[in-house]
Amino acid sequence: MASTPSVAMNGKAVIFTPGELLIDAINRSGTELAQVCYHKQLGPIQSCDTCMVEIDGKLVRACGTLAVDGMRVNTASPLADAAQREAFDRILGNHLLYCTVCDNNNGNCAVHNTTALLNVEHQIIPFRDKPYEKDETNPFYRYDPDQCILCGRCVQACQNVQVNETLSINWESDHPRVLWDGGATINESSCVSCGHCITVCPCNALMEKTMIGHAGYMTNLPAPALSDMIDVVKGIEPEVGYGAILQLSEVESKMRESRIKRTKTVCTYCGVGCSFDIWTEESALHRHILKVEPLDGPANGISTCIKGKFGWEYVNSKDRLTKPLIRERRLEGDFFREATWDEALSLVARRFAEIKMEHGPDALAFISSSKCTNEESYLMQKLARQVIGTNNMDNCSRYCQAPATTGLWRTVGYGGDSGTIEDIQKASLVIIIGSNTAESHPVLATRVKSSHKLRGAKLIVSDIREHEMARRADIHLHPRPSTDLIWLSAVTRYILDNGLEKKDFLAKWVNGIEDYKKSLEPFTMAMANERCGISIETLKQVAHMIVESPSTCILWAMGVTQHSMGSDTSTAISNLLLVTGNYMRPGTGAYPLRGHNNVQGASDHGAMPNYYTGYQKVTDDEVRAKFESVWKVKLPAKPGLDNHQMIDAIHEGKLKSMYIFGEEIVLVDSNENYVSAALSKLDFFVAQDIFFSETCHYADVIFPASPSLEKEGTFTNTERRVQRLYQAFEPLGDSRPDWIILQDLANRLGAGWNYKHPSEIMDEVAGLTPLMAGVSYERLEGYKSLHWPVAPDGTDEPLLYTKQFKFPDGKANLFPLEWTEPADQQNEDFDLHLNNGRMLEHFHEGNMTYRTPGIKEKVPCTFMEISPDLALERGVQNGSWVELTSRYGNLRVQALITDRVQGKELYMPLNSVESRVNLLTGTHTDKQTHTPAYKETSVHMRVLAQPMGTEAKSPLPRTNPRFGHPTPQNGVEIERKWKRNGYIMPGANPTSRELVQIKTK
Ligand code: SF4
Ligand code: SF4
Ligand code: SF4
Ligand code: FES
Repeated sequence: MASTPSVAMNGKAVIFTPGELLIDAINRSGTELAQVCYHKQLGPIQSCDTCMVEIDGKLVRACGTLAVDGMRVNTASPLADAAQREAFDRILGNHLLYCTVCDNNNGNCAVHNTTALLNVEHQIIPFRDKPYEKDETNPFYRYDPDQCILCGRCVQACQNVQVNETLSINWESDHPRVLWDGGATINESSCVSCGHCITVCPCNALMEKTMIGHAGYMTNLPAPALSDMIDVVKGIEPEVGYGAILQLSEVESKMRESRIKRTKTVCTYCGVGCSFDIWTEESALHRHILKVEPLDGPANGISTCIKGKFGWEYVNSKDRLTKPLIRERRLEGDFFREATWDEALSLVARRFAEIKMEHGPDALAFISSSKCTNEESYLMQKLARQVIGTNNMDNCSRYCQAPATTGLWRTVGYGGDSGTIEDIQKASLVIIIGSNTAESHPVLATRVKSSHKLRGAKLIVSDIREHEMARRADIHLHPRPSTDLIWLSAVTRYILDNGLEKKDFLAKWVNGIEDYKKSLEPFTMAMANERCGISIETLKQVAHMIVESPSTCILWAMGVTQHSMGSDTSTAISNLLLVTGNYMRPGTGAYPLRGHNNVQGASDHGAMPNYYTGYQKVTDDEVRAKFESVWKVKLPAKPGLDNHQMIDAIHEGKLKSMYIFGEEIVLVDSNENYVSAALSKLDFFVAQDIFFSETCHYADVIFPASPSLEKEGTFTNTERRVQRLYQAFEPLGDSRPDWIILQDLANRLGAGWNYKHPSEIMDEVAGLTPLMAGVSYERLEGYKSLHWPVAPDGTDEPLLYTKQFKFPDGKANLFPLEWTEPADQQNEDFDLHLNNGRMLEHFHEGNMTYRTPGIKEKVPCTFMEISPDLALERGVQNGSWVELTSRYGNLRVQALITDRVQGKELYMPLNSVESRVNLLTGTHTDKQTHTPAYKETSVHMRVLAQPMGTEAKSPLPRTNPRFGHPTPQNGVEIERKWKRNGYIMPGANPTSRELVQIKTK
């Protein structure tokens, strides 16, 4: 048997795993070693030279060396020690140590800590200013070249983790510095403000502006006073040494711990589920968010996007609802007045009871929130079912995700992503269909981009827009709108016709091949070419790439689901994966990308008309009996109305009352005019939100709720990963967490609930739900997470179907399909196709993101994308106002000319309350799920006259990152530094005084 490999570290054996970096083995052993540029999640950069160790008489960088069995390593020999000091002295020559008055003096500054670790008393190389100004142009962060030690972590993160490829270092310059787009200001560069670079910066060179002047006790001194203090410190350094100075700064740093609160939370925007610590300060008069610090989130590692890193100011917005509001009806017009909780809750309880008494329980309906927690969705559906007695219960997955879930239920059994983001990262081929992943799921997109850039993964994108992922793809398919099902089926048929399918897999694991093959008959390559407008050659290339790829993942989103055949196209995706054997292994599977942070969890926790928690059917007598015995009531056996049917039912006079929380139905449901007309017909409408949303305008009572930072609970991300969030702030004003409001209301209706903490709600869910049987707050403590299904002993399933599919015989099903014509087709009157979707900076309609001024600066309003050709043909300029009219409504919007769209296709992001795209979308839906076919919208465009004396101006400012010019390179390109004239490795020439690697002025 082979012995365990080990190195002799300072004479002691240290075991390592084959392929492990020496620095990781050293760190694991507890040996302290300087390592300023090393960051585990970035890998070796080798720029700082402080990790020099001696191996068999030679100096090497521990971060750039693999551990080898029998290696003899000395981390503290005179040679190594001298080299480490020399390297660090060079760093101090590039960085002014003023820790006590530095906002980065929080115990985690690598420069400070290394000064202490090496017991540096005096620096040999004096600090000198560099010939650059600070760059403070970006609204969120600033770069201080004087403090920059040129470690390159930021470049590595931007180039190879975020893969935005904005940052580089001009190693050949006399005065190297970090560059944005090769020399632009930060704000005019391609920087997407994701924050990766700031997160990994080991010192204060890159800092969040929200930290500056706020983190320390003495950091908000006026600049002259600050400068004087720094001079004093520098003045006494030769005499007292750094030891004494650092002691003072360490005391100050310790004092900060009592006023800076660090709370683990989970992002409240998209379904990627990034988690991080949020640093806050709170007093009776003041609440401030210092920064978001991603440490090692299970879904995101160190990654964030602009929204998760910087989009939190809505929490402290002056627009927050802080008191319950009651509508007063007056002849001269209605208005809302503030009320006490007691009055508002009593009124709602009384009206719900009256309506139930008069019209029956099914005259009421409930819509839960995919922004709120799992526990809150559970309580909302419990209120509907146990207390009111109706299954009229839904959530906004109806607007986007339900068709994908249906496609997976039909074919493989579970309605969730089949693996994790790590699996997507492992795939040798990623196919993205109908998803602008880089903007809608930014952190997940970084994993695809980095696999493609660095690890040879292939990428195929099918999208009618040429967004970032399409530009990066090896093949970009540009099918005609609503034809993805056709090309997917034609490629699958081609694979089967040519015997390229995974025969063993199909024989062992899949039912229904013969019927499925028959259903594929119409889907020839010629038909796909004609209907989709994709060449036969390209389609064959796609087929061969899939069958030749060792592992394929398919990602899709609203570009697939929001069609009248959204469920069928989702099914076609899963069929293709089955035929090619791309399930049951790491790096394979189906990934419908969940939109909202907790849209997966809202459905998982029973906020659906036909399911209790964990997709247990309300029509199943045994399941119902279980819930009846725990809830101690008789429950309705008939599925309720979904949110699309609710709107129809209001118009038909069957539905009299509705309670909605954390959901902007007026703006996000399709055919807004129809929806708002319905809401105004309700006898009694209750809205619960953190802001006075458009939906609130129709309410009779409005409850002020608390956002995620003001409560505890759990969210479930797109990977089926359940994660805890902790409370960072007290609820603002009289606002309350949704779960408390729901409980108070239920109790006024006689429920007798007594939950003291959301963990008790989750315990109840676990007891009733096989899918969540082993979920508990203890198992989710801190950064721990679980992927459902979770067995009673806590075993979870990050990758589904490793043993069998979720059907009684363990086999998957191929599901036969037909193609149907899309709804709302173009004709002479409505000659243009209008596509719509999310964008990077704003989340959905922007009711949270517009309240962060920096985000508003980057994207101040919505716009309509139009191709250069169509703009020329119709006389549209950048910034021209146009009127769009569909069969359902009209709006005015400014044009943005871009080659992201082509031909007769227009695109509008959803980020507007003024020009809301759902004034144009219609009522047609996916047949199986009633998901609106938002993407099937035809419009007529009228160009409006430019007001006299004015010039059309682009709706997007020059400072939007899409106007930047990235500078792709592989990481920090450290070899260029080593080739600099005068660079010598520390320790290489102990007599040399040429210590400064970077010349200063
Ligand atoms: S995109 Fe901007 S914020 Fe993100 S890592 Fe690059 S430079 Fe930093
Ligand atoms: S700005 Fe970049 S290169 Fe400079 S110290 Fe920070 S991470 Fe290192
Ligand atoms: S919006 Fe999505 S990608 Fe961005 S930080 Fe939040 S969870 Fe992560
Ligand atoms: S930590 Fe090894 S060179 Fe910087």
